[in-house]
Amino acid sequence: MTELTQEIRRRMTFAIISHPDAGKTTITEKLLLFGGAIHIAGAVKSNKSSRAAVSDFMKMEQERGISISTSVMGFEYRGRKVNLLDTPGHADFSEDTYRGLSAVDSALMVIDSVKGVEERTKQLCVVCRMRATPIATFINKLDREGKDPIELLDEVERELAVEVRPITWPVGQGKLFKGVYNLLENQLYLFRPGEEMLPTDVVGIKGVDDPELEVRVGPSLARKLREDVEMLSAVYPAFDKGEYVAGRATPVFFGSALNNFGVRELLDNMIDLAPYPTPKQAEEREIAPEEGKFSGFIFKIHANMNPKHRDRIAFLRIVSGKFERNKMYYHVRSGKSFRTANPTAFMSQDREIIDEAWPGDIIGLHDTGTFKIGDTLTEGESVSFKGIPSFSPQIFRHIMNADPLREKQYHKGLDQLAEEGVVQIFSKLHQSNQRVLGVVGQLQLEVLQSRLENEYNAACKYEPIEVSIAHWITCDDKRILEDFVDANARRILVDIRGNYVYVAESEWSLNRVQEKNPAIRFYTTSEMVESRA
Ligand code: G4P
Repeated sequence: MTELTQEIRRRMTFAIISHPDAGKTTITEKLLLFGGAIHIAGAVKSNKSSRAAVSDFMKMEQERGISISTSVMGFEYRGRKVNLLDTPGHADFSEDTYRGLSAVDSALMVIDSVKGVEERTKQLCVVCRMRATPIATFINKLDREGKDPIELLDEVERELAVEVRPITWPVGQGKLFKGVYNLLENQLYLFRPGEEMLPTDVVGIKGVDDPELEVRVGPSLARKLREDVEMLSAVYPAFDKGEYVAGRATPVFFGSALNNFGVRELLDNMIDLAPYPTPKQAEEREIAPEEGKFSGFIFKIHANMNPKHRDRIAFLRIVSGKFERNKMYYHVRSGKSFRTANPTAFMSQDREIIDEAWPGDIIGLHDTGTFKIGDTLTEGESVSFKGIPSFSPQIFRHIMNADPLREKQYHKGLDQLAEEGVVQIFSKLHQSNQRVLGVVGQLQLEVLQSRLENEYNAACKYEPIEVSIAHWITCDDKRILEDFVDANARRILVDIRGNYVYVAESEWSLNRVQEKNPAIRFYTTSEMVESRA
């Protein structure tokens, strides 16, 4: 095996997806504790901005800026290099999360056993399905009186359109929670509440008929477990790794992250199951990690982490080959070469300069304005990776400079923050000086205003615009597309990549236009448009 293949097989890169409050922060922290990456609880900051005021949010962002390593956490566990990517929990920043998912090879979905499948989880699952990303499921908070586990499995299958394969099964719930039974190993993991990191009591039993089961969990829970196990084996096919890797079935684990229960077993299973870095689709061809030549793409840019130096960090996911410090790489969009002087790795709490990195790794590149989200770096080949789309905004505003003396700063700030993905900027057709802003959540508008002020000393103002829906449009016949654009010029915006976007006041009027123009295709993400361009 070559060094490259060895390094690829050692790696796993994943993100946690969940609805806020399901326990993402708690699980991240426990994974890092078990992985030996941190030694005290409380080191991972919750990004629970839903309850925070905007000012708190900004402060929090600044804190996160200083310890940016919390965005990507790398650690070694049982011979594997684990890269865990943190994604914003707040729905107003979902685009950032969607893009983050383009940089991982699998996802861990956390579900609150009391609340079941929630809205945000559904949205994130749609994105995973688009890319057939394998998902493992952890059903959390079994120490609370939650929904019936069978009902939870049904909900996952129904709401998320993925088949479930329970790997562990809860014995009791809430006050009566005794632990989980591992259906593959026939072992009983006994629950001991508390936050100490005591090893779980594992009892090897000879199947559910072993009388030891009664001794450990009592007769009534033992009987219930026997019935459940019989029912489960009748309803669900045996777990098949191939189905999971293809994104068709999700292995399901139960536990309580707060009580450290089930997380170590989850991590151990993920180490065994989670796919190593997978091939990625570029516009031109598929690129496999084993290819000798380096390639990678930028999926996130974090600007002005230190307000005193205008530094930006571009997050690069390595797709193929070995990345080496100080080597010249080809920046496909500009056609220029680029030297990677001080690339950083994100190991647990630290940022450290690295000399080399491998497929699956995420590294930070110091950027002085060269990169945009979606950019590709290679050893010379002109390829562009797909899957770093923009998503249809839900809130629209005209945006204008509010301080005529600071026009230049205003434009610079707006362009840079749009490149960072804080907001989407469109221009009106034939009136490129008139800009329209699109965001997914209200909070983004406030964040833009505040960042323009603090980081660029510029000011903006918003005015309402009668738009509530935007769809990217395309057509196989370029002439039909141009005719449509001319005939609807008032309703056409152009995104920063030059793609046409059709805007409407309501779903109803959009539907009418769609019916009248069957040749035009309408998309809620830019991805389809770019792949067809
Ligand atoms: P998030 O990042 O997905 O938003 O969730 P987070 O981990 O912050 O957890 C949300 C709340 O759920 C927290 O309580 C956390 O302590 C609790 N929690 C997480 N895992 C479990 C579990 O297994 N059992 C129980 N009963 N609770 C759990 P909080 O009171 O909102 O916050 P905090 O003050 O404890 O930080």
